[in-house]
Amino acid sequence: MAKQDDLFKKVISHAKEYGYIFQSSEIYDGLSAVYDYAQNGAELKKNIRDYWWKAMVQMHENIVGIDASILMHPTTWKASGHVDAFNDPLIDNKDSKKRYRADVLVEDYCAKIEVKIEKEIKKAQKRFGDTFSKDEFVTTNPRVLGYQEKINTILSRLGKSLENEDLADVKLLIEELEIADPLTGSKNWTDVKQFNLMFGTQLGASADSSMQVYLRPETAQGIFVNFLNVQKTGRMKIPFGIAQTGKAFRNEIVARQFIFRMREFEQMEMQFFVKPGTQKKWYETWKETRLKWHLSLGMGKDNYRFHDHEKLAHYADAAADIEFKFPFGFKELEGIHSRTDFDLKAHEEYSGKKMQYFDHEENKNYVPYVVETSIGLDRMFLAVFANSLKEEKLDNNTTRVVLKLPSVLAPIKAAILPLVKKDGLPEIARKILDELKWDFSTTYDEKDAVGRRYRRQDAIGTPFCITVDHETIDNNTVTIRHRDSMEQNRVKITDLKTIIKKEIDIKSWLQKM
Ligand code: GAP
Repeated sequence: MAKQDDLFKKVISHAKEYGYIFQSSEIYDGLSAVYDYAQNGAELKKNIRDYWWKAMVQMHENIVGIDASILMHPTTWKASGHVDAFNDPLIDNKDSKKRYRADVLVEDYCAKIEVKIEKEIKKAQKRFGDTFSKDEFVTTNPRVLGYQEKINTILSRLGKSLENEDLADVKLLIEELEIADPLTGSKNWTDVKQFNLMFGTQLGASADSSMQVYLRPETAQGIFVNFLNVQKTGRMKIPFGIAQTGKAFRNEIVARQFIFRMREFEQMEMQFFVKPGTQKKWYETWKETRLKWHLSLGMGKDNYRFHDHEKLAHYADAAADIEFKFPFGFKELEGIHSRTDFDLKAHEEYSGKKMQYFDHEENKNYVPYVVETSIGLDRMFLAVFANSLKEEKLDNNTTRVVLKLPSVLAPIKAAILPLVKKDGLPEIARKILDELKWDFSTTYDEKDAVGRRYRRQDAIGTPFCITVDHETIDNNTVTIRHRDSMEQNRVKITDLKTIIKKEIDIKSWLQKM
């Protein structure tokens, strides 16, 4: 655990030191769970968004993108169920005055039991060596079975109590498990209360005519209310999808873990409208397609796993998370939800407008079913950033800190470095920069010894450093240094564009899908 905490602390400080993420309004001591993307962070975020948009919109003939507004008519949120049901159960500790999500306290308790299971597995692996079968061990070992049963009993009781709105039982469960405030150890808890996560505000200037509106808590509803507009104007035929990226806001009770859980964040969502009865097939297809998108970035197959939901949201008939191994363990990165016809039907009911599609093949109208893919852009940023940060021991017994970002996502693709600040080398370097910047984001750096400049670019995650030296004057060649291998080759200036393009070309990355 301490190791994980250390790694996470390094991720956070590296993000600040190298111009990726700053605390929002830092000069006023910041605002909890709100962050700003700095010069490199904004580029990385944009590249992730582009990578998603290209895969989802540009590469699918039957998916189009929109950009709906953040403020929507308040009835939207009544219809979607957010006014009545977008709540988290909160509990306060009377001694520490700290506020927690009651369900997260219980889940964290279960996560600790899971760690015990992992320990048993590791011990047995050591004992049995090559003959060890994990599957057999976890299904037969009495201690592991006991732990697993305990987890199942606790989570099933928690699920039932939340479903039945039995908040007194959630508190009883916390007391029975003797769960203490993680910060102070106090077990002096208040009752559990429901807390709506939407931020409300007023639209309009005068008190009489102003209207209570909400900052959208998900981008999905902007797609649902535009379903017929897009279908008609785009002459879309089912199955088809509508995608969008944009800000969402949630007044999260527990706002920790950096950009993992924020109060203002960005989502990349796609709603896929299908014929009723075919949703299971499309749900499986999108689960597979989205996992392939993640794997195409080469961040390690073992870092992902599916978590199928047992307790379903009020709108879903199936749901799964793609979980990623963050520095603090496996957590949800993306959700794939089979949302049935819940949203469109609800909007029909509340607006009195038909939300139906005329199927020419079937010669009938119906409300389509929807399969949704929903990923947090900031969460994806954290996954990419944390997974890329490495500390490497080098042959000469020194270490280097390198951000091995998938090069297609790197904020700066190439740094142009004159070996010295004289003899006409800066002028040649600038000329190369002026040529390359048409195609790639580039930077120029002439300060410090070249070794230090390499380290600086390693830490930023720049895949290529191009050094102009005295030989360049004689034969128009430069050295190109590769971030990951640190290999350096002498190449012609005229070949630079092709070499860089080959490595960062979005097409070749997405073709790995
Ligand atoms: N439209 C469905 C929906 O919003 P969700 O599971 O609540 O579903 C989808 O959110 C994704 O949005 C999550 O998988 C996560 O990546 C991201 N997300 C949700 N809440 C977040 C928060 N407070 N901060 C950052 N990302 C968040």
